[in-house]
Amino acid sequence: MNRTFPKTFFWGAASSATQAEGRKIGDGKGENIWDYASKEYNHRFYDGVTTETTSLFYRDYQQDIQKMQDISFNSFRTSLSWSRLIPNGTGAVNPEAVAFYNDMINKLIAKGVEPFINLYHFDIPMVLQERGGFENKEVIDAYKQYAKTCFELFGDRVKYWFTFNEPMIPAEAGYLHDRHYPYVVDFKRAATVLHNIILAHCEAVAVYRKMNLSGKIGIIMDVIPVYPRSQNPADLYAAEMADLFYTKSVNDAILKGKYPERLKDVLTEYNQVPEVTDADLKLIASTSIDLLGINYYRPRRVKAKECVPNPQGVFSPEWFFDEYVMPGRRMNTSRGIEIYPKGIYDIAKKIQTEYGNIDWFVSENGIGIEGEEAFIEDGMVQDDYRIDFLKEHLTYLNQAMSEGSNCLGYHMWTFVDCWSWGNAYKNRYGFYRMDLATGAKTIKKSGLWFKELIENNGFD
Ligand code: BG6
Repeated sequence: MNRTFPKTFFWGAASSATQAEGRKIGDGKGENIWDYASKEYNHRFYDGVTTETTSLFYRDYQQDIQKMQDISFNSFRTSLSWSRLIPNGTGAVNPEAVAFYNDMINKLIAKGVEPFINLYHFDIPMVLQERGGFENKEVIDAYKQYAKTCFELFGDRVKYWFTFNEPMIPAEAGYLHDRHYPYVVDFKRAATVLHNIILAHCEAVAVYRKMNLSGKIGIIMDVIPVYPRSQNPADLYAAEMADLFYTKSVNDAILKGKYPERLKDVLTEYNQVPEVTDADLKLIASTSIDLLGINYYRPRRVKAKECVPNPQGVFSPEWFFDEYVMPGRRMNTSRGIEIYPKGIYDIAKKIQTEYGNIDWFVSENGIGIEGEEAFIEDGMVQDDYRIDFLKEHLTYLNQAMSEGSNCLGYHMWTFVDCWSWGNAYKNRYGFYRMDLATGAKTIKKSGLWFKELIENNGFD
């Protein structure tokens, strides 16, 4: 084997509750923002396919977990659905949800698949959104109670906990870029949501520490490494700002315990500072995590702003940089993003040099392809492009590890093709193909390749 990984390396895939579970009538689940948006904003979902049409993990989890074992996963990340477990956001716990999650966790462990459990993947209960969602500080308390309930119910068996998936996204997509409900476009409100999510993360970590459980707790971040068009000062400034707003803002708060000074200066200059108290800053400074998950899909290439933004317009990080379309860049046209395997190496290096070489793992990485049915031959998706994608990214990851990066595992997005926020089932990502008409889940060529990789703990 040219590329080998440590014996203890975590191999598997990631998924999330709203994207995979589905629901059945009478299961006691409350509505979350996605269930609500599915009804009221159906046109925003590709082909009108909504949360009800998912990969039916709630129904099929036992067979699905068998499928994980079939391809030798030793770990799997999913999230718990807050609105399934606590249908009103606070208060009574749904016994059917407790039974479901207990059995899911037990079955995973019985099959040798370590459960990595995330508390929140974009899916706030609708009742809490109606009270202002994460703009309202009271919701932090509701989240803290929810986290405590989860630790009490499942903390004896779950050893790897994550507070949030991609904390930036609910703020950015929900309050600035009009992609997620409540479809608000207002920077200061987005900044408030992000700040409150960071506080909620800190509160959950504090609760976990107090309970003296034996596991680890962390967070999952999306990191988009930024590359300037040139070394000219104007392009470098554009890159600095893109990185400051979209990565350093959260990473520094979580991993260094403080927001970057530069961010404060810029937000003050533009009168965009959200309400932040000394107690908030103290809480952030006193919180540390055990394990960091990194979702990596693409690089961000930027250049100096070509036009001065309209001062009457909505303030936005995009006031400081333009996207740079690099000639010859390699694209995943289905998703409209660049494929850049070396990005994973650059992230690993940054964690090593800037963030204390903390233990981390690749919590998502993958390639979404539209029209994958065109690649079906002999009843199997022949997704050689996904195998190439995996090999290239894993080669760079392996190199970073050989240079001292503390990477503990690699999770592909995703296990079975699942529903996604907006794109619904347009882009397929799974090791298993989901046939929406029949509900059949069949392995793809990449799934077989991944099994071999895990069994050999490496590849040529
Ligand atoms: C990740 C999210 O950033 O991107 C996932 O954590 C999501 O929830 C994935 O499904 C892929 O996104 P999309 O829109 O291409 O399906």
